[in-house]
Amino acid sequence: MTLTCRIKNVLDILKNPSKAQLKDALLKLDIKLKDFDSLPEPSQGKPYNRKLLYKNEEVEMLVMNWSQLECAPHDHGNSYGWIQVLSGTSLNSVYEMSGTGLPSELFHEYHQIGKYFYAPKKAIHKMQAFDQSNLVTLHLYSPPITGMKVYDLEKCAACVVSDDCGAWWPDEQHQKVKEIQLKKNIKNKE
Ligand SMILES: [Fe+2]
Repeated sequence: MTLTCRIKNVLDILKNPSKAQLKDALLKLDIKLKDFDSLPEPSQGKPYNRKLLYKNEEVEMLVMNWSQLECAPHDHGNSYGWIQVLSGTSLNSVYEMSGTGLPSELFHEYHQIGKYFYAPKKAIHKMQAFDQSNLVTLHLYSPPITGMKVYDLEKCAACVVSDDCGAWWPDEQHQKVKEIQLKKNIKNKE
């Protein structure tokens, strides 16, 4: 059976899946790097390139092939999901919205090949390959991601990006659905 058929058989039956059901689907599929004939090469200057493997109204599955660049801090809109490391080691930095009005790093963690980690709804994170490894990750989200918000912490700005844009500041104007200037909450000096 082709990979496409295997994926379809497992994901077609999911309806409003829970966190546990999404993880179970990934475990059942047990996808390995060798299941892919080819992977999309990251474009120059981009942290990853991705290939959509499956999408319906309930879920979407993507494989991402990483360069050595980190992605921008971002959320996944109203979606939640699991990330499986197919190759290499991922450095995942998790943020919280701080009192300054900007996301600040809460902790970071490393996930080696074979590990699964959860991305909760509205959580902000960034990822990169650790230690020059060839990072490839498999992502299963519910519902399909739309309205992803990407942060540029140096510019104190956020941008809701179009669905064809990855976790980086958009290059194209049409990919900027909504640009937001984040204001730092400065305490009044009295
Ligand atoms: Fe993400």
